[in-house]
Amino acid sequence: MRYTPASVYNAPARLFHWATALLLLIQYALAWTMPDVHRDTQPIGLIAWHLEVGVVIVLLVLVRLLWRSVHPAPPEPESLPQALRALGRYTHWLLYLLLIAVPLMGWANASSRDWPVTLFAAMPMPPLSPAGSPVGHALGDWHRVFAWVLLALVGLHVGAALFHQFVLRDGILARMLPAHRKAAASKQ
Ligand code: HEM
Ligand code: HEM
Repeated sequence: MRYTPASVYNAPARLFHWATALLLLIQYALAWTMPDVHRDTQPIGLIAWHLEVGVVIVLLVLVRLLWRSVHPAPPEPESLPQALRALGRYTHWLLYLLLIAVPLMGWANASSRDWPVTLFAAMPMPPLSPAGSPVGHALGDWHRVFAWVLLALVGLHVGAALFHQFVLRDGILARMLPAHRKAAASKQ
C-alpha cells in the first residue's frame, strides 16, 4: 500500500501510545511483585510505586484522550473489511475506558484505606472516596478483576496487531511505529 503522512498516527499520538504500553508493563510487574494488601498494610515500597505509576497512567491517558479528540485517528486502508474496522475501533475505545476506570478504582480503594495518593510523590491528589468507605473497599476487588480484563484486551489487541502485520500484511502496525513518518515522507 502507499503511505502518506496522513495515513499514520502523528508523533505525539505514537509517543502517548508507547509510553502507555511501557508504563502498563511496569505497573503489572509492580502489582504482581508488591506485597499483598491487607487491613494494616502501609503504602510503602513497591505499593507506593504502584500508586505513583498508576496516577501517572491515568493522567497520561486523560491528556492522550484530549489530544485524540482534536487529532482523529488516520483513515484505515481501503482494503480493511468494515467488520474488522469496527472491531478495531470498539476495542480501542474499550481500552481507553479501562485505562481510565481501572486506575480510578485502585485510587478509590487507596483513598478508602486513607492512603495518601500523590503525583511524583510531591503533589497531593484528592481522595476519590472517604476513608473507611465500603464502596471504596469493594472497588479494590473490582480493580483487580478489571485489571485482568484490561490485560486480556491488551492481549487481543497485540494479537490483532500481529495478525495485521503477518497475515493480512496491510501495514496497520506501521501506522503506530516511530520511524514510520520518515519512511512515509521519503516514499512521496
Ligand atoms: C492501569 C493502571 C493499574 C493497573 C493495571 C493496576 C493493576 C493492579 C493489579 C493487577 C492488582 C492486583 C495485585 C495482586 O492481587 O497481586 C492491583 C492492586 C491494587 N492496586 Fe492497582 N493498578 C493500576 C492502577 C492503580 C492506581 C492508580 C492505584 C491507586 C492510586 C492502585 C491501587 C491499588 C491497590 C490499593 C491495590 C490492592 C487492592 C486490593 O487488594 O484490595 N492501582 N492493581
Ligand atoms: C500494552 C498496552 C497497549 C495499549 C493499552 C494499547 C492501546 C491502544 C489504543 C487505545 C489504540 C487506539 C489509538 C487511537 O486510535 O486513538 C492503539 C492503537 C494501536 N496499537 Fe496499541 N496498545 C498497546 C500495545 C500495543 C502493542 C504491543 C502493539 C504492537 C504489537 C500495538 C499496536 C497498535 C497499533 C498498530 C495501533 C493502530 C491501529 C490502527 O491503525 O488503527 N499496541 N493501541
